[in-house]
Amino acid sequence: MDQFISLPRGTADILPEEALLWQAMESQARTVFGVYGYQEIRTPFFEETDLFARSVGQTSDIVQKQMLNLAAQTEAQENDKSTSLSLRPEGTASIVRSYIQNRLDKKEKLSKLFYIGPMFRGERPQKGRLRQFHQIGVEAIGPDSASPFLDAEVIALGTNLLKQLGLNDFVLRINTLGTLEDKGAFSGILKDSLQDKIRNLCPDCQNRYDRNVLRVLDCKNKECRSVVEGLNFWRNCEYLSPKSKEYFEAVKKALDALEITYVEDPKLVRGLDYYTHTVFEFSCQRLGSQDAVGAGGRYNNLVEQLGGPVADAVGFALGMERILLATAKEGAELQAGLDAFVVCLQEEGLLKVFKLLQDLRARGVSADMNLRPGSMKSQMRQADKAKARFVLILGEEELKAGEVTLKDMKQGVQEKFRLGAFEEIVSKIRSNKSEN
Ligand code: HAM
Repeated sequence: MDQFISLPRGTADILPEEALLWQAMESQARTVFGVYGYQEIRTPFFEETDLFARSVGQTSDIVQKQMLNLAAQTEAQENDKSTSLSLRPEGTASIVRSYIQNRLDKKEKLSKLFYIGPMFRGERPQKGRLRQFHQIGVEAIGPDSASPFLDAEVIALGTNLLKQLGLNDFVLRINTLGTLEDKGAFSGILKDSLQDKIRNLCPDCQNRYDRNVLRVLDCKNKECRSVVEGLNFWRNCEYLSPKSKEYFEAVKKALDALEITYVEDPKLVRGLDYYTHTVFEFSCQRLGSQDAVGAGGRYNNLVEQLGGPVADAVGFALGMERILLATAKEGAELQAGLDAFVVCLQEEGLLKVFKLLQDLRARGVSADMNLRPGSMKSQMRQADKAKARFVLILGEEELKAGEVTLKDMKQGVQEKFRLGAFEEIVSKIRSNKSEN
């Protein structure tokens, strides 16, 4: 036998029953985004590697360890230089690239964009952590984005969306990083307080200490976590400028007004470099170690840093696989029943029934049959499995009389129609469609 090739580690097939859950999740998200005035944007699944290095951050784990680079290198059009391409590890960088490239700033002062699609990170796979996973995300970009109300609105949108998707027991944690200058000052304070503890940090964090000390705060290593827990400057940390403090207070006030429950977590810094001011994370403890179901924040300097105009921005992304894990719904419950299942018991009638089936479908009646008919019993079992509301039967008797029996599976009644009375059959089925 030929050798079987299995799917790559850290990826998953979404089989038809499960796909129903994905469709439902996507359509609920689209409805919520419509209500909040967000429009869909679709960007390529791969971009130049540099785009991610310059946005997510050269020293971030994502760029350092998880980029999935494409083996095929392309020629840069202008200067014949070879360009490195990577599968997108997240959506924000691509959306900002597209915002700049398509001059969306000229179209409106606030672009409210959403995306749904696969992301790729070469992580060590485990429950809730895949190499190809899917995000639902939003990005609100533009000069008019500079308002604490927008931070609150985006957080409220994430909260409402999670609830719509059936998740109610999540915790929302928020924090502020302040401006780039504030972040710099905070990094200095952090460096000072870690200075005599460097030896206790993991090799990665010892490296991070010099290159990007904030990353130490989201290291999952046990030793590093206990060092971080032991730091004592959190409560009265004075690294924020008065303006940044004021901004964060305004965000919290707006969240309070919207009755959004949150926990302030001064240790929340997020693993991506582009954040400034508000950062937040939605987590669901039941999920174990990979408990973040979504996260986001403000990134006021990214558009400019990537060569675009001055434009503030805020957004978030939810992990679709983790939401499905947390809600644990069954796809089969969403399976819609057929309008009709056509049963043929006579070989001679097969062509007639086959034509009837296609005609029904052409009129929008969902219908099916077994193209290799078996016994009445097995075909009725099939009809049952397909949750068919009606069964159309062409047996020996019907074939002789030029008729077909229409059995209403819900009412348990049946009546005969002439085979030629197609419109009558359709309208009978249609009149009961809504009661299915
Ligand atoms: P992130 O925290 O890297 O942020 O990812 C957001 C969510 O994607 C996570 O909370 C998690 O649910 C899901 N996720 C991430 N990695 C994996 C994985 N390997 N397997 C399964 N699920 C995963 C971002 O991506 C930012 N772009 C969010 C953002 C948008 N910030 C501003 N705008």
